Amino acid sequence: MANREVRAIVLAAGKGTRMKSARPKVLHELCGRPMLWYVLRALREAGVSDVLVVASPDLEKNIAALGARSVVQREQLGTGHAVRIALDAMDAGNGPILIAYGDMPLVPPEIFRDVLGGLHDSAAPSLALVTVKMPLPSNFGRVIRNGTRVERIVEARDATPAELLVDEMNAGIYAFAEPELRHAVAQIDNKNAQGEYYLTDTISGLMRAGKSVVPVVAGDHLDVVGINDRAELALARREMNARLCERHMRDGVTIVDPATTYLEPELKIGADTVIYPNTTIGRLSEVGERCTLGPGTRLSAAIVGNGCVIRESVVADSELADDVHVGPFAHLREHARLEAGVRIGNFVEVKNSRLGPGVKANHLSYIGDADVGERSNIGAGTITCNFDGVRKNKTVIGRDVRIGSNTMLIAPVEIGDEALTGAGSVVTKDVGPKARVAGNPARPLPEKVPREPR
Ligand code: UD1
Ligand code: MG
Repeated sequence: MANREVRAIVLAAGKGTRMKSARPKVLHELCGRPMLWYVLRALREAGVSDVLVVASPDLEKNIAALGARSVVQREQLGTGHAVRIALDAMDAGNGPILIAYGDMPLVPPEIFRDVLGGLHDSAAPSLALVTVKMPLPSNFGRVIRNGTRVERIVEARDATPAELLVDEMNAGIYAFAEPELRHAVAQIDNKNAQGEYYLTDTISGLMRAGKSVVPVVAGDHLDVVGINDRAELALARREMNARLCERHMRDGVTIVDPATTYLEPELKIGADTVIYPNTTIGRLSEVGERCTLGPGTRLSAAIVGNGCVIRESVVADSELADDVHVGPFAHLREHARLEAGVRIGNFVEVKNSRLGPGVKANHLSYIGDADVGERSNIGAGTITCNFDGVRKNKTVIGRDVRIGSNTMLIAPVEIGDEALTGAGSVVTKDVGPKARVAGNPARPLPEKVPREPR
C-alpha cells in the first residue's frame, strides 16, 4: 500500500498519573530520547509523515521540536475523546488513519506497516488492530473473540475474572478507515470503571453496524509494551538498550557485556571496536574501527577516529583523530581536538584545545584554551593558567616543545618551537623558539657552553 496518504494520530495527552511526575509521561526518556521520539521515528520509517499528536497543554510546546504537529486535549477524558479532538482538527478525508499511543517506544515500523496492510486486505475495511499474546497478569485491555471474530475489547479494570484470564491483548495500534472511525467515535460513551471515553469501544459499534474488524497478531509482546510507571520505563529501557547493542554487534562491534553498556540511537561505531563494561555512548557520538572503549568510559557527542583507546575516561563534545590513547581517568571536554597519535594519561583534563599529532600529556595536567604543536611533551603537573579572573586567555605552544614538570603557563602566552621550560617554571612572558627558561617568574637559562675535551 502506498503510505503517502496515510495520516496518523498519536495519543500522548494522558495524565500519566502512574509516573508520579511533574513531567508529561511521553517526555520521560529511555536511552537518551523521550519515549514519544521513538514512536514518531517508527511512524516516519513506516512511511507516515503526516502525524498529529494529541497533547496536554504542558506537552504541546515540546511537539514541534520532535517534528510533528499537535492539537491540545485540555481535559483528559479518555482515548476515545482524544481521537475525537484529533479528528475535529483534521480535514475530512477517505484514506486510512493510523492510531498509536505515545507511550509505546519499542514498536518497530513493521507493525505499523502490518496493521495498514491488514486494513487494506480486508473485504470491507473498517478497522485493523494489533493484538498480542502476553504473560498474565497484565493491565492491557483483553481482546474478546467470538470464535475467530474480534467482538470487543474490555479494559482490565472493567473485566470479569473470566475475561482477565484471556491472554490476547489489545496492543493499542489501529488502522481505521476514516469515515468509519469518525462515525464510530461519535457513538462511544463513558459508562465504565474509569468514567472515560474508550477508543476501544468503537469496536462494538463497528460490529453492530456489521463492519469487519481485522486482528493483526504481533509476535513479540515486548514490541508493544506500554509504559505507565517508572518500573515499566526501566524494563523498556533495558529492552531498548539490548536491541541497540544487538544491532551494533551484528555490524561487527564486540560488546563484552551488553547489560552494562549503555547506548543511544543513531550512534556510529566501526567494526572490530571492542566495548568493555560500564561504558556509556551517547549524543550522536561516532566511533571508528578497531577502537577499545572502556571499561568505565563515557562518550557524549564525541567523534573518535580509528584505532583509539579510551579507558576509564570521559570525552564530551570533543574530537579524536586516529590512534589516540586516552586514560585511565582523563577528561576531554568542550571542543578538545586531539590529532593523530596523541597520548593523554591519567588525571589530565583538556578543554577547548588542539593538540597536534604525537603530543603527549601523560600525567596530572590541565590544558585549556591552548594550541599545542606536533610532538610536544607536556610534563606532569603542567597547568595552562587560562583564567585571569575576568576572561579566558590562550596558550600557544609550538612544535617539539618540552614543558617541564609542574610548569605554570600564565596565559596569554606563547612558547616557540623546540623551546624548553624547566621543572617548576612559572612562565609569565612569551618564550622564543629553542629558548630554555626556568624559575618563578621564568627567565632564560644561561647558554650551555660546550666544554673543551680534556
Ligand atoms: C490503553 C488501551 C488498552 C491497551 C493499552 C496498551 C484504551 C481505553 N485502552 O490502556 O486497551 O491494552 O493502552 O498500552 O485505549 N491518552 C490521551 N488522552 C486521554 C487518555 C489517554 O491522549 O484522555 C493517551 C495517553 O497519553 C497514552 C495513551 O493515550 O499515551 C494510552 O493511554 P493510557 O492511559 O496509557 O491507556 P492504558 O491504560 O495503557
Ligand atoms: Mg498505556
